[in-house]
Amino acid sequence: MATPPTPHKTALITGASSGIGKALARHFAQDGYQLVLAARGVAKMQALADELQEQFKVAATVIGADLETNDGAAKLHSEVKARGMVLSALVNNAGYGAFGEFKDSALAPELAMMQLNMNTVVVLTKLFMPDLLATRGKILNTASTAAFQPGPYMAVYYATKSFVLSFSEAIASELEDTGVTVTALCPGPTASGFQDKADLGSSALVKGKKLPTSEAVAALGYRAMQRGQRVYIPGFVNWAMAQSMRITPRNLATKVVKTLTRPIA
Ligand SMILES: NC(=O)c1ccc[n+]([C@@H]2O[C@H](COP(=O)([O-])OP(=O)(O)OC[C@H]3O[C@@H](n4cnc5c(N)ncnc54)[C@H](OP(=O)(O)O)[C@@H]3O)[C@@H](O)[C@H]2O)c1
Repeated sequence: MATPPTPHKTALITGASSGIGKALARHFAQDGYQLVLAARGVAKMQALADELQEQFKVAATVIGADLETNDGAAKLHSEVKARGMVLSALVNNAGYGAFGEFKDSALAPELAMMQLNMNTVVVLTKLFMPDLLATRGKILNTASTAAFQPGPYMAVYYATKSFVLSFSEAIASELEDTGVTVTALCPGPTASGFQDKADLGSSALVKGKKLPTSEAVAALGYRAMQRGQRVYIPGFVNWAMAQSMRITPRNLATKVVKTLTRPIA
């Protein structure tokens, strides 16, 4: 007797054109999810989609989306729905930072970053919630170790990641009897497009440092999501730092980050 076909699991991954999001896409494909990849870099995502379709025999749809615009997230939701897809995993991963003193930075790019790093996460989570409840699905939000304390020289970015962590933990608690899990992945500095985009080249945070790869972080994050772990910090040093920040007086924690992030020659 023929085995009935397994219903498709579908994952939407934002920021899938590069870095951690691109590496996460591979894990979902390997597990048999059909993919929806979303970011602005359509050519890069199409190359990834072609590769994953070939290697893992899963369908992969690419949607060009600028998620730092006011209606970017809602448009992406409409495009997914227009294709008749129902998500069983939502990965809110697209995001970026900016290095520099707040008094010198321009407001418009900071507002755009806030739109992408926070509002888009809330809008996509809200709009896809019916899907995720129906499929007892998984939400993976890429926060950061930046979420655990204030971040001088990256003040707005750190604040956006605190938002993502707090939001993720709160809805994880609300959803605990629904079968929907929420995981906040909190990487420390990771080799990706992030450093160039954030202009971090002169920061002590990354200058001269060997950073873990996006692939290593994605592999650990994917496993944490599968376990339904609420907060996952890859790497022992990152984990220890984040734990110590929870009990360090706030002024001292801020001073430590200021020293670790400062511009160096
Ligand atoms: N790397 C680190 O050190 C680090 C540490 C902690 C947390 N994180 C977080 O990890 C996540 C992924 O970053 P990454 O390190 O993988 O950096 P990345 O290689 O620069 O990837 C960022 C992704 O976000 C997408 N993105 C940026 N602006 C967008 C926009 N306006 N609309 C749609 N997509 C947009 C980019 O795609 P397009 O440019 O093609 O649109 C890209 O796919 C971010 O949320 C970041 O804050 C990174």
